[in-house]
Amino acid sequence: MRIAVLASGNGSNFEVIAQAIKDKEIDAELVLLFSDHHDAYVLERGKKFGVPCESFELKEFSDKKNYEAALLELLKRYKAELVVLAGYMRIIGKELLEAFPNRIVNIHPALLPNFPGLHGIKDAYEAGVKETGVTIHFVDSGVDTGPIIAQGKVQVAESDRLEDLEKKIHQVEHQLYPQVLAEIVKEFHRDKE
Ligand code: GRF
Repeated sequence: MRIAVLASGNGSNFEVIAQAIKDKEIDAELVLLFSDHHDAYVLERGKKFGVPCESFELKEFSDKKNYEAALLELLKRYKAELVVLAGYMRIIGKELLEAFPNRIVNIHPALLPNFPGLHGIKDAYEAGVKETGVTIHFVDSGVDTGPIIAQGKVQVAESDRLEDLEKKIHQVEHQLYPQVLAEIVKEFHRDKE
């Protein structure tokens, strides 16, 4: 299965996915890393793994529609079969969704449907919940609303600062995302048989 990762920033999730593919824990090919920021640190990680890296920014296009058309063209050029969002901070538009039905996966740092949006960890922390976590889901046209594939729970201790909770969440993300992607890839191969 040919995987493309879309990421906007740091790329710690990209890194564990790339490592799991390299170690053959995920039976797939990492064909493309795309970032919507030329200076995103994730691109350094991509180069380290020898993954083809591409980037362009929304501001280089006349509107979001043209940006997405270019992104779709790129995904097609690299013959991507699964699109993995790993800290990609943009809503996926209609054309991309239609081109990849149930083939775009996202990771969100909260137990959806609770705390969707940009600040899942902070919002859960400030709400004072005792338990939060991580959700992996297929992407639909809403914000963090698509069908849930898997969740991992994280307990919030009384003594946890926001940074502590962030660390715990990322640890669960780094375990869960490669595992879930391995399963998705297995299912893809089973369906093909
Ligand atoms: C993760 O917390 C993920 O859940 C959210 O964005 C963050 C990306 O982190 N969607 P990184 O760039 O993979 O380190």
